[in-house]
Amino acid sequence: MAESKSHKSSSYVMTPSNTAQEIARLGTASSYGDLQHQIWLKTLNGQLFTAPVDLKTKTTEGEAFDVLDVGCGSGSWAIDLALRCPHLRILGVDITPPILPDDPQTSNITFLKADVEQDWCFAANTKFRYIHGRMLQSGIHDWPALLQKCWEYLAPDGWVELIDVEHPFRCDAVPSEASAMPPFVRFGYAAEEAWKSNGLDYRATLKHEERFRALGFQSVSDRTVRWPLGSWEQAENEEGFAGDMILANFSKFIAAAGTAILGSGKAGEGYAPMSAEAARELVAEMTTDLEADWITWKYWLCMKVYIAQKPTE
Ligand SMILES: C[S@@+](CC[C@H](N)C(=O)[O-])C[C@H]1O[C@@H](n2cnc3c(N)ncnc32)[C@H](O)[C@@H]1O
Repeated sequence: MAESKSHKSSSYVMTPSNTAQEIARLGTASSYGDLQHQIWLKTLNGQLFTAPVDLKTKTTEGEAFDVLDVGCGSGSWAIDLALRCPHLRILGVDITPPILPDDPQTSNITFLKADVEQDWCFAANTKFRYIHGRMLQSGIHDWPALLQKCWEYLAPDGWVELIDVEHPFRCDAVPSEASAMPPFVRFGYAAEEAWKSNGLDYRATLKHEERFRALGFQSVSDRTVRWPLGSWEQAENEEGFAGDMILANFSKFIAAAGTAILGSGKAGEGYAPMSAEAARELVAEMTTDLEADWITWKYWLCMKVYIAQKPTE
């Protein structure tokens, strides 16, 4: 995989994971955990992945890597896996990778600065047993090409797991008038249009299954998880979920990147980018609404977890 010079080369329209705000939200490599990662751990009952891949033993030969984390961000997932499975060799790739402190406990992890949309130039014999990609929709313009690379670099019987939010942003309460779409839902649609004008598909998850199958993957399956913003769902069904954490995480994300996302749109056929002022207004409206009205609207994000296996050769 060619090392890239800057996140700008991949037209990534979110805040890079090494800015002050994102470090506050996503943590640093040295903090070994971040809010979003903690939410995912709660979501998956403490597990780091759902694919039925056996990573308890090392089967990969020699110095080769066993696991690839695509778009590893703060590195929390990869570091967590490295600590749980010291026998594994893990590679995390990102256009802005974390800097790992010198720690013998995580000597089995390597971070590489690279754009995963460019050619992957790993050694010819590199075959991962597991490839993980979480929350990547804001960086991937060509999903078929990415899935093809996963296919090529997976060992026979190896698994790929892709986790992302499925647009639109949801709300369980019905607005009283058709025109009164709540700010969080409006923000979701506006962000989706801005991303679309940058060649990013915020409904890519809807095509994962078809694309996996077209490449020859087997045992393709998906799981849907509701991420409530605020503890309203907990109050209703007493399941006890991370609603407060999800609301805090989303609010921090919007404070850091909301205006930039809405303002990132590129003028094109049938699409006029939102002005900076309109973007600021919508973000301010949504921020106030999230603080005051999350319980009224019952907002939630639809999270999708896809797994697929490369067949035995
Ligand atoms: C929303 S963050 C998710 C980080 C991590 N996977 C997690 O779940 O915590 C998306 C990450 O993908 C990275 N990214 C986006 N486009 C990329 C690309 N083309 N190549 C490599 N990394 C990319 C970003 O730099 C960012 O760190």
